[in-house]
Amino acid sequence: MPEKQNGARSVTTNQEGPYKELERVVRKHAATLFLRPVADHTRKAFDAAKEFVNRFYGSASPSKPFDVVLDSGCGTGESTVHIAKRFPDTPVIGVDKSAVRLTRACTGNAPAADGEIPPNAFWVRAELLDFWKLALDEVSAGRWHIPYHALYYPNPWPKQSEATRRFHLHPIFPTLIKLGEQIELRTNWEIYAREFAEAAMLIPNQVRDDHVVCEAFSPEECETAFERKYKEARQQLWRVLVSK
Ligand SMILES: C[S@@+](CC[C@H](N)C(=O)[O-])C[C@H]1O[C@@H](n2cnc3c(N)ncnc32)[C@H](O)[C@@H]1O
Repeated sequence: MPEKQNGARSVTTNQEGPYKELERVVRKHAATLFLRPVADHTRKAFDAAKEFVNRFYGSASPSKPFDVVLDSGCGTGESTVHIAKRFPDTPVIGVDKSAVRLTRACTGNAPAADGEIPPNAFWVRAELLDFWKLALDEVSAGRWHIPYHALYYPNPWPKQSEATRRFHLHPIFPTLIKLGEQIELRTNWEIYAREFAEAAMLIPNQVRDDHVVCEAFSPEECETAFERKYKEARQQLWRVLVSK
C-alpha cells in the first residue's frame, strides 16, 4: 500500500533509482520525429488559445514574436492564476485534458482565484502532447516566444512498467524541451525530478548542464491543489528549472 501521511499518499514505486534505460530511451527519441497526428479537438482548442493571444496583443502586426506562457496540466487552474499575476503583461494559457477540473478554473472556483480571473489567464481543454506540437510550430515560425513553461505535478507513472508514459521518457520530450526558454517542473517524487533533469541535458543543442537545476524546495504559498495536499502532508517537494 502507498504510504499515507496526513491524508496525501507519497509516491510508491518499484523503482529504486533513476530509470536504467533513461539515456538510451531519451537519445532514441531525440534522434526521431514524433509523428502522431494531432487530434481535431486539440487543434480547435489550440486555435482558441491562439485567438486569445492575438486578441490580447491587439491587431497591430507584431514586430517580434508574441510572448506566451504555458501552464501544462494545470488541473483546476489555480496555478494559472498565480502565474498570470507573475506575468501580468503576457497571456498565460492553462491546459488540461480534464473537463471537470477545468470547469472549476473557468468559473473562477479555483481557490486562489477568489472569483477574480486575471485578464491575461485563459484555459483550454486539450491533449498536451498535441498542444505542444502545435505550440512548437508557432515558435518555429517566429510567431510565439515562450519565456516560461510550468509543469506542476504531472502524473508520475511510478511503476517501472509505465515509465515511458513519463513526459521525459516519451517521444514528445524533445518537443517539450525546444518549446520554452525556461521550464519549471514541480513534483513530490525525487526520482522523477532527477530523471527529468538528466533527460533535459541529453537533448542535443538545447540545454547546457549548468542550465539545469534540480533541488528540494518548499513553496511559501501553495500554488496548486496537489502542492497544498503534499505540503500539508509534509512531503518533500522537488523542482527542476531548465533554462536555455
Ligand atoms: C497530478 S494532476 C496535477 C494538477 C495540477 N497541476 C496541480 O498541481 O494541482 C495532473 C494533471 O495533468 C493532467 N494531464 C495529465 N496528462 C495529460 C495530458 N496528456 N494532456 C492534458 N492533461 C493531462 C490531468 O488531467 C491532471 O489534471
